Amino acid sequence: MDYTHLITRREGSVEHVSLNRPDVRNAFNDELIAELTSWAASIRNDPGVRVVVLGGTGKSFCAGADVAWMARTVQYAEEENMRDAAAASWMFGALNTLPVPLIGRIHGAALGGGAGLAAVCDVVVAEERTVFGFTEVKLGILPAVISPFVLAKIGRSAARELFLTGSRFSAMRAMELGLVHAVVVQADLDATINAYVREFLDGGREAIAAAKNLIATVWNQPFDAAVPMTAAALAKRRVSDEGQEGLRAFLEKRKPGWSGP
Ligand code: COA
Repeated sequence: MDYTHLITRREGSVEHVSLNRPDVRNAFNDELIAELTSWAASIRNDPGVRVVVLGGTGKSFCAGADVAWMARTVQYAEEENMRDAAAASWMFGALNTLPVPLIGRIHGAALGGGAGLAAVCDVVVAEERTVFGFTEVKLGILPAVISPFVLAKIGRSAARELFLTGSRFSAMRAMELGLVHAVVVQADLDATINAYVREFLDGGREAIAAAKNLIATVWNQPFDAAVPMTAAALAKRRVSDEGQEGLRAFLEKRKPGWSGP
């Protein structure tokens, strides 16, 4: 499929997708939101994809919502305004629940919705000079649609500081907060991402999807409620074809059938 504001590239079972509005530092408008949502739907239904790397072209990963587009929403009717905001929520939700690992390749700036994108990734690798921030209040708006995902990553205390001040912070701080998993120099960005890709390709595709689902399901559940869910999830995996192949491969001292690119 052809996109106007996205560049996609497939290498074996690894999908690379880049936001591509470099003149506005890959800021989101309604078209980019629609394209990213439909791209996520296509990946969800593509058994050939095992890992996704999400990045941005040009100087910065993503400067958040396109300010000029948001300013124009003053002309929208209330219902249209709500629908527009909800479309962004569904986009973040679709990325958050991709059944394959989503790796963020982040450089330059990840502000507002750009930092929100980091929050829906499973692994985030950031170039050391990247600037992060939930800067919305500085513009008189709100980090609303990204808040469920960001709160799940950084918790309430950090959110109270960073959502309310809107201040910018470093990649190292983002790593301390759990928003980022590795901070590297520019020259090491792709090698670090490739190392994560190789790790993911060593795992069973269905097992990784189930692990991702497990985290979302068990999160915040009381232990008593979690027990039947976790027991059912494990019971299902270990008798599955993939589970049986992985267990047998270990016992037979060989690589499982899914190994490799
Ligand atoms: N929406 C629309 N346009 C944006 C934008 C955004 N969120 N962020 C940057 N741009 C535009 C700038 O207006 C500028 O346009 P121009 O060339 O017509 O003047 C262009 O992108 C380049 O921006 P510039 O600030 O010169 O680039 P930079 O590389 O020095 O800095 C940022 C990049 C992202 C650090 C900086 O642009 C910035 O702080 N943007 C605001 C981000 C923000 O607060 N986002 C939250 C939105 S809710």
